[in-house]
Amino acid sequence: MSWSLSGKVVWITGASSGIGRSLAVEAARRGAWLILSGRNVPALEETAALCERARLASENQQNAQKDEQEASPGARNHAACTLLPFDLADPEARLEAAQKALTIHGRIDVLMLNAGVSQRAKFVETSADVFNLIMETNFFAAVDIVRAVLPQMCSHSSGVIACVSSVAGLMGAPWRTAYSASKHAQAGFFSSLRTELYGSGIQISIVYPGFVRTAISENALAGDGTRHGKLDPLQKFGQNPEVTARTIWDKLETGKLDIKVAFELKARLGVFLSRYFPALFVRSISRHGGL
Ligand SMILES: NC(=O)c1ccc[n+]([C@@H]2O[C@H](COP(=O)([O-])OP(=O)(O)OC[C@H]3O[C@@H](n4cnc5c(N)ncnc54)[C@H](OP(=O)(O)O)[C@@H]3O)[C@@H](O)[C@H]2O)c1
Repeated sequence: MSWSLSGKVVWITGASSGIGRSLAVEAARRGAWLILSGRNVPALEETAALCERARLASENQQNAQKDEQEASPGARNHAACTLLPFDLADPEARLEAAQKALTIHGRIDVLMLNAGVSQRAKFVETSADVFNLIMETNFFAAVDIVRAVLPQMCSHSSGVIACVSSVAGLMGAPWRTAYSASKHAQAGFFSSLRTELYGSGIQISIVYPGFVRTAISENALAGDGTRHGKLDPLQKFGQNPEVTARTIWDKLETGKLDIKVAFELKARLGVFLSRYFPALFVRSISRHGGL
């Protein structure tokens, strides 16, 4: 069923950077109330400023399109932002944040679980702590937040929960055992939850982006937990985060459940080969040095 972001309360995790920032700006442009999360407060403030600018530009454009008599001065698209910084890897902090998020506007209409951390190390070189940290941040945090927010959505028989997985949630990839496992886990959890919530009025969508031009590879963890610190070619030449965000919201607003936003052939071919020709996939991904 289709719906619109206008006037909705939208909580976005990972809003301080990359895809999450672009999702926030686009949601502001479409008139949503926003709760923005991440750990980096100055970066969240920057996102909020960009959202405010987008909201004003959209209002000006709408008013210019109306007759002067029709235009209601002071009409707002309601894109006010509230910052809710916390560390997803801290189980207590994320539960406390979820409770706070529910009280800010008295409800969450759209929960966008976008935050994530990647990995750049072979399994044998990845410490158990780093492996667990990636699973905690990408997967268990999402599950805990859903557990906290879902009862309120169920009580209203409405709401949208979207999780940003990855093409790495549809195929394996070297140096990403924990990352790919966390993204497959998200897909398994949300596609199962969806079956339980059929007919409840709650939309559960999973987003599978291809390679997007963000800091994901720079922020990825090496096996000892240090930052990878390098912009990998796939991200450097990856798809535009703003176009990615627009496409995600467009498809979510139509009620789509599985949203593949991989514009490059390499990502789409990888998913296809891994599913139908696994031996060929593993040979080719190894020969080409991985993703
Ligand atoms: N870029 C790609 O090629 C690509 C492809 C497929 C899927 N994705 C997925 O897209 C999502 C967004 O990634 P991105 O590409 O935009 O990367 P990014 O620029 O590195 O953004 C990651 C976001 O996650 C937040 N985050 C990470 N660890 C956190 C923690 N412990 N607590 C709270 N927030 C945390 C970061 O916020 P702080 O630093 O402020 O904490 C940041 O806002 C991720 O789930 C990623 O797996 C990305």
